[in-house]
Amino acid sequence: MTAKALCRADALADGGGMSVELAPGKPGLLLLRDGETVRAYINSCPHQGTPLDLIPDRLRDESGRFLVCSTHGAHFRVEDGYCVSGPCTGASLRPAPIKLSQGWVTIEDG
Ligand code: FES
Repeated sequence: MTAKALCRADALADGGGMSVELAPGKPGLLLLRDGETVRAYINSCPHQGTPLDLIPDRLRDESGRFLVCSTHGAHFRVEDGYCVSGPCTGASLRPAPIKLSQGWVTIEDG
């Protein structure tokens, strides 16, 4: 296995994030940064499996504390991906095993 670089950590806005593709036809990742902490979830809503960001660059609600699924509005806590409201309340986003290495966000490839 090798590490695949996803983006520079400093390319993620503090309190923001971005979605990245991994492979054609497969769910990508949501990368989220809060201060020095970078988290990642599989970009697939537990309700119907759609990407959360069908509306590009709209990942969080106005408070910045919740990810919002653009399909039906489910809200997920940024810190653990737990759904607090919407049609999949009680479900969770799947975390992705990213690492930070020399300023890069990476994931094991293969
Ligand atoms: S697909 Fe996300 S809330 Fe329905």
